[in-house]
Amino acid sequence: MKIVAIQGSPSATSRSASLLALAQARLQGVASNSHLIAVRDLPAQALLHAQFDHPLVRQALAEVAQAQVVLIATPIYKAAYSGVLKSFLDLLPQDALRGKTVLPLATGGSIAHLLALDYALKPVLSALGARDILDPVFATDAQIAKHETLGYTPLPDVVERVEAALQILIDRAEEFERSETAARERDELLARLQPKPAVAPADPKTWPARDVRWSV
Ligand SMILES: Cc1cc2nc3c(=O)[nH]c(=O)nc-3n(C[C@H](O)[C@H](O)[C@H](O)COP(=O)(O)O)c2cc1C
Repeated sequence: MKIVAIQGSPSATSRSASLLALAQARLQGVASNSHLIAVRDLPAQALLHAQFDHPLVRQALAEVAQAQVVLIATPIYKAAYSGVLKSFLDLLPQDALRGKTVLPLATGGSIAHLLALDYALKPVLSALGARDILDPVFATDAQIAKHETLGYTPLPDVVERVEAALQILIDRAEEFERSETAARERDELLARLQPKPAVAPADPKTWPARDVRWSV
């Protein structure tokens, strides 16, 4: 299972990031690879100026393109998901999430905006082509404890809810593996069928002097 985890909080120590880290850790056993995109670590100017061709943005977009499972974590800001996350989602190509399974994760100050994921984030994920969106996991700040070294760590009730959401993915691990193998075989076949670029005949005028010495 190829996983990409998108961390959408602007904070260095983040509650929503702790949910994401938990999910990534729990999927380790079924992940063939797992990348973390911390949007706050991408160059701000590239995000604000929509520089699709910035090398770090391109790398992040490629990681999303290659993933089968996309975990997206965000804090609730002003009754929606974070602007930092949106600045990255806006750079994704149309249909970037088609064929992928998406699990939204969020934390908020209270349950007041529990539905923000449904009315704000899900339509964006749909617009990006996602059709397999798992039920989101939402936790309030009170359900994420401050930890001395880890920053934050979710309380047992939240851990249980994250694990329940992930179980659906774990149960489908073989299906993901089969489609990963099929995609790899298809790519190998396409690479073999690709016509080799014709080798242009060498122009004697461009030969280095040591090569033409004997020919004069
Ligand atoms: C600018 C700002 C706006 C916020 N707006 C909301 C909100 O509308 N509803 C809510 O429940 N919590 C709101 N919060 C609280 C955060 O969602 C909450 O503390 C969250 O767990 C922070 O996640 P993070 O640590 O991953 O950044 C807001 C916090 C900030 C800093």
